[in-house]
Amino acid sequence: MIQDGSLDRTSSLGAMYDHPLGRDIIDKLLLQLGRSPKWVDNFVIRRLPLGVVERLGRRFTGDGFMDTLFSLLNDVSESPTRTSGPVTPHWWKQAVFYQVYPRSFADSDGDGLGDLRGIIDHLDHLDDLGIDCLWLSPIFASPNEDNGYDISDYRAVMTEMGTLDDIDELIAACHARGMRIILDLVVNHTSDQHEWFKEARRDPEGPYGKYYILREGSPETLPNNWASYFSGPAWTWLKDAQRWALHLFAPGQPDLNWDNPAVRQEVADIVGWWLQRGIDGFRLDVINFISKREGLPEGNEFVGSLMEFAGVEHYFHGPNLHTYLAELRRDGFQRQGEAKEAPGHDPMAVMIGETPGIGIETGRLLTAEDRHELDLVFSFDHLEAPGKTRWDDYVYDLNHLKAYMIQQQSRLGSGDWVSIFWENHDNPRMISKVNPDPLYRTPLGKALAALQLLGRGTPFIYQGQEIGAINQGFEDISDFRDIESINRLSENHGGPVNIDVVRPGSRDHARTPMRWDDSPGFTTGEPWIGFHEHSTGYTVAEQREDPDSVLNFYKSLIALRREHSALRLGDVRFVFRDRRDYFAWVRELDGESFLIEVNLCARTINRPHHSTTQAPILTTGEYGPRLSPYEVRVHRVLD
Ligand code: GLC
Ligand code: MG
Repeated sequence: MIQDGSLDRTSSLGAMYDHPLGRDIIDKLLLQLGRSPKWVDNFVIRRLPLGVVERLGRRFTGDGFMDTLFSLLNDVSESPTRTSGPVTPHWWKQAVFYQVYPRSFADSDGDGLGDLRGIIDHLDHLDDLGIDCLWLSPIFASPNEDNGYDISDYRAVMTEMGTLDDIDELIAACHARGMRIILDLVVNHTSDQHEWFKEARRDPEGPYGKYYILREGSPETLPNNWASYFSGPAWTWLKDAQRWALHLFAPGQPDLNWDNPAVRQEVADIVGWWLQRGIDGFRLDVINFISKREGLPEGNEFVGSLMEFAGVEHYFHGPNLHTYLAELRRDGFQRQGEAKEAPGHDPMAVMIGETPGIGIETGRLLTAEDRHELDLVFSFDHLEAPGKTRWDDYVYDLNHLKAYMIQQQSRLGSGDWVSIFWENHDNPRMISKVNPDPLYRTPLGKALAALQLLGRGTPFIYQGQEIGAINQGFEDISDFRDIESINRLSENHGGPVNIDVVRPGSRDHARTPMRWDDSPGFTTGEPWIGFHEHSTGYTVAEQREDPDSVLNFYKSLIALRREHSALRLGDVRFVFRDRRDYFAWVRELDGESFLIEVNLCARTINRPHHSTTQAPILTTGEYGPRLSPYEVRVHRVLD
């Protein structure tokens, strides 16, 4: 329980900082404003009553900000406990995951679109790499307004991608290799082509009308000021039904009403159905958005402008979120019948939440082992530098990532575990953000691999990362395919269409086809999205032959992880933390100990003197007294 009960204007800023959500909100505010978290460590600042903070800040925040905060904070009555002791060795803490974006992975039938058979044909690549679990972005029936994140039937495969027989074959092929496979569960919303929604539209007063968030009213007046993530308001007027429908994403992605127990039961049934087919778990799309505050109140304007989207505070950590997740775990993810920890048979299928806006402490509330909600979350605070958004064209400093990783680990107890990822289908490529100079592409690709694979947590590799994929040279607005980019281009605040508003941050950078070889190998047909990156040396075929390639480095690191439990489950201790551009940590378990060092910059730097005795295992440089640009070194610590 939170010690001081509820917060009000007499509570101190320090008390708010001691509250898990309060802490995350303050950290997030400082991050958005580009300020250091050290700001709140100050003794005087901590003692400031929130009423005073409100008065001082009113000029920026306008009215109502503090009340918005209180309603959020006072919903949360618990703090995650920080336990100590051994870490439970669940498979998903030790696994290396690999995200496949099926549309762009491999096309087996020449229609220009990746498919399930294409994945089956390329399992050797993943097996060779040492992958333990595949995550497929959506493969379900969909009109593809948002590339499958708009599902019209959760029990059918998208026609272009194959059939249920193909997915059965893929599941069996993964399991035969000792790999697991998870799918993407998109249940904050469905497609507007889902039968439930069609029925809701036909008869909004009937049972399916309660599956969605529909509001009566007049077509002139929006129910509230909430914004859609894909431009414009989060509401569409349905003329036939004479109702507004809420959609946090595209109009074709209406939000489900999770307050309706029938909806929650449907979702649990879908999960159970796939578990029976042998699926090992799910990544749950924007799962922290499922519980909306009762009455759907107006979003605070200050929060809206700061976070870019009005209304977020009413659903990013909604009042029933924890209850709904615990219920789904129990009713859907628990395997029925005989179970043993093995691919296709785990007693509890893995439950990984995509959770935009969730900070470290709230992430712990969602994943702490004793709370039985999610196993892991994907939070995003580390993907941009302080004060920056994905759309900004800037250089990402890896010292920020270092600070984040140190901070995050310092807050975890033995019942907590985190995911480690730098890329996915929603983000540009990390190499391009950090240093687009081709000279450093390989060493930087390797440095990012070491940070991810030897850090403490579960790594999720996104397709292409293992061959050092970079951003695309998009030159024309017609090069883009993603709804988010296309809407943003046409929005452009009344000005002329300007490609620069989407070029740095477009999700399409990560969605161009996998470069298997330079033919280009992904398809015999016309790819659904063009290749705009043709550098030599960065295809799978080329990298396989090159002992110094990024691909072979990934293989070595994954093999090393597999060999030593200290690199999977071991503790982490950061050393020489204050040394800029130098990042070093020790992983330790049962008397086995490793020192990992990474040069975070494009200059040669001095290596500090370590008092321990070490035996080198692996380097991307030359074991001298200095570390070359982005060099990685791994040593065994002998004393
Ligand atoms: C998640 C997905 C993204 C999708 C959105 C709506 O953020 O990763 O691709 O557009 O949810 O489903
Ligand atoms: Mg195809």
